[in-house]
Amino acid sequence: MSDNVQITINGKTASVTPLTVVATALACEGVTRFRRSVTGEPRTPLCGMGVCFECRVTINGQPNSRSCQVLCEDGMEIVTDE
Ligand code: FES
Repeated sequence: MSDNVQITINGKTASVTPLTVVATALACEGVTRFRRSVTGEPRTPLCGMGVCFECRVTINGQPNSRSCQVLCEDGMEIVTDE
């Protein structure tokens, strides 16, 4: 039995260790586009400490969530702007 946390990233299931930050989970799963700028350019985390807002994704239906500030929870659904 695994103690890992099961999450969904853009519809695909992933398993991460407890206390993994969402931004880290996304990077580990190969996500390179977290969101897009107003001009359509792909954006990824920059500061990693909640200041730049470049890491925003949709978490459990809540848009513009800073993925560097949220820990993965079992059943969490994460959607990026691929
Ligand atoms: S990486 Fe800067 S706010 Fe998340």
